[in-house]
Amino acid sequence: MPAHIAIIMDGNGRWAQQRRRPRVIGHRAGARAVNVCIDFCLERGIAALTLFAFSSENWGRPEEEVGALMKLFINALDREVAELHRRGVQVRFIGERERFSAAIRARMDGAETLTRANHALVLTIAASYGGRQDIAAAARALARDVAAGRLDPDAIDERLFASRVALADLPPPDLFIRTGGDFRISNFMLWQLAYTELWFTETLWPALDAATLQRALDEFASRERRFGLTGAQGQPGAGAGNATTPDETPA
Ligand code: IPE
Ligand code: IPE
Ligand code: MG
Repeated sequence: MPAHIAIIMDGNGRWAQQRRRPRVIGHRAGARAVNVCIDFCLERGIAALTLFAFSSENWGRPEEEVGALMKLFINALDREVAELHRRGVQVRFIGERERFSAAIRARMDGAETLTRANHALVLTIAASYGGRQDIAAAARALARDVAAGRLDPDAIDERLFASRVALADLPPPDLFIRTGGDFRISNFMLWQLAYTELWFTETLWPALDAATLQRALDEFASRERRFGLTGAQGQPGAGAGNATTPDETPA
């Protein structure tokens, strides 16, 4: 069972276009699929779910589409946060929050504050997020510490760097899912996905159902995660100390 699932929710526009409807209708339908996914994780006891909702690059879409997405974002937060809180979900946001309007930022802050002590599921929404931007921000923070004399450059190793990227307090994703039929990462969690199992489906995001998510879990269960070692080293009795690289903890 994966402890942390990360998902690129892709295919909203094509789902609407197949129905000869404007793309925004697909985004609206996509909100329902988010709930399918959250229900699935809560039922299965999956500890963390990270959803890619809006990339740094998505700001470049037509103004009308970006505007519609922002409205949907506000509506979804107003509609869902109280219920998520009731169900014990901790809501977090990663990405360049300062690029959003004050109305959205206030809702993000409010949702985080309200749900911060919850533990049934850590739900992270990546919004105005980019993996390269995440890594650059970590490098900038470390450079600042070096410039201020607080940090020796020789102390910068993978472990320290990992502590400065997004979601540093969570285990890295065990399972990555992308809907929509494309086989790429699209600048999602580049650092964190180093040893994540990747799974792709043709299913368009608004059509997502529990059966599709279960197929991903079944496939995940059949994978052998080696973390650079040999298959034999990962077998029970091989010695826990040898079974994983220091920064990766297989579920
Ligand atoms: C994903 O669906 C949602 C966002 C990126 C905001 P798309 O809008 O990318 O849908 P397609 O990929 O064009 O079908
Ligand atoms: C990735 O989807 C970003 C989100 C789902 C939020 P895109 O639709 O933006 O990715 P590309 O353009 O197909 O790479
Ligand atoms: Mg897309």
